[in-house]
Amino acid sequence: MTENIDRFGRRITYLRVSVTDRCNFRCIYCMPASGVRSCPHAEVLRYEEIIRVVRAAATLGIRKVRLTGGEPLVREGIVDLVAAISDISGIDEVTLTTNGSLLPRYAEQLARAGLSRVNISLDSLRPDRFRQITRLGSLDDTLSGIAAAQEAGLVPIKLNAVVMRGINDDEVADLASMARDGFQVRFIEWMPIGSSSEDFSSRYVSGDEVRARIEEALGPLQSLREEGPARVYRLSGTSAGAGQIGFISTFSSPFCATCNRIRLTADGKIRPCLLSPIEIDVKEPLRAGATDDEIRDLLIEGIDRKPLGHGLASDAPRDRQMSQIGG
Ligand code: 5AD
Ligand code: SF4
Repeated sequence: MTENIDRFGRRITYLRVSVTDRCNFRCIYCMPASGVRSCPHAEVLRYEEIIRVVRAAATLGIRKVRLTGGEPLVREGIVDLVAAISDISGIDEVTLTTNGSLLPRYAEQLARAGLSRVNISLDSLRPDRFRQITRLGSLDDTLSGIAAAQEAGLVPIKLNAVVMRGINDDEVADLASMARDGFQVRFIEWMPIGSSSEDFSSRYVSGDEVRARIEEALGPLQSLREEGPARVYRLSGTSAGAGQIGFISTFSSPFCATCNRIRLTADGKIRPCLLSPIEIDVKEPLRAGATDDEIRDLLIEGIDRKPLGHGLASDAPRDRQMSQIGG
């Protein structure tokens, strides 16, 4: 199969689907305090429409689907969507990125519907600070969500922390220590996207700096492997399966050369790159009665127009907020 290979030789096997731009949190790195004007319901892809796009994508060689948002678990019927996508022939893995708050309610059902694993955002282990960062979240809820996901077998769980100077950078060793309990703790460089870019230069902390701070506190990290965009290390004194720490350094060392993903936004646009404004509308064609082959052709166009790389440092996207594109 060659239709899923882009002009730069990258094979696209991974589709990230934003199911909603709404969220029950307002994380400071993701949204302004007032939130983002959410897209009217009629503009959001219906589940049948998402399923048609994923089916077409599977025929092209997409093997993995990640559901994102906004917060995917705020959308009603999400468990049914997971079940439908897991049933699509060719899709090997369905995963989800969440803030965890609704996992106590859904983890078990999601696992039964065929979800493989979850990534959960966890930027602080201090209740007051967790609230300050998420504006509306509660640390207890997210920790209960993490426990529920473990209980349901949605493992290994990745915990994502966006590090911000003067906000949570003093917690990197504490967060890293959670890797001892079998989580993969991933440190994500803050990206200057949408309005979150205002204090970017004073708040940005590079992955290298985070790694140095962890090593200072917890001893040397042993390099294990590259896993998609993440460089994965092991904490000293831990054994196989535990102690994994990942770094996603989008800003300081872009992983574009090995990028294998495209996105579908909640309002029905194929977005070949998170950080490029190129979008191909699939919603109107879907609603105008496009055939499966026509949907497939739009996906091929998306793959074909995937840019070689992004110049995040010089041209941060201003067209949309993170919650609108899919985190
Ligand atoms: N920079 C880096 N990561 C971000 N996320 C959202 N906004 C940003 C940003 N500006 C990521 C976080 C969160 C996930 C849902 O999206 O990792 O955990
Ligand atoms: Fe919501 Fe995730 Fe954005 Fe936080 S980062 S506001 S949890 S979409």
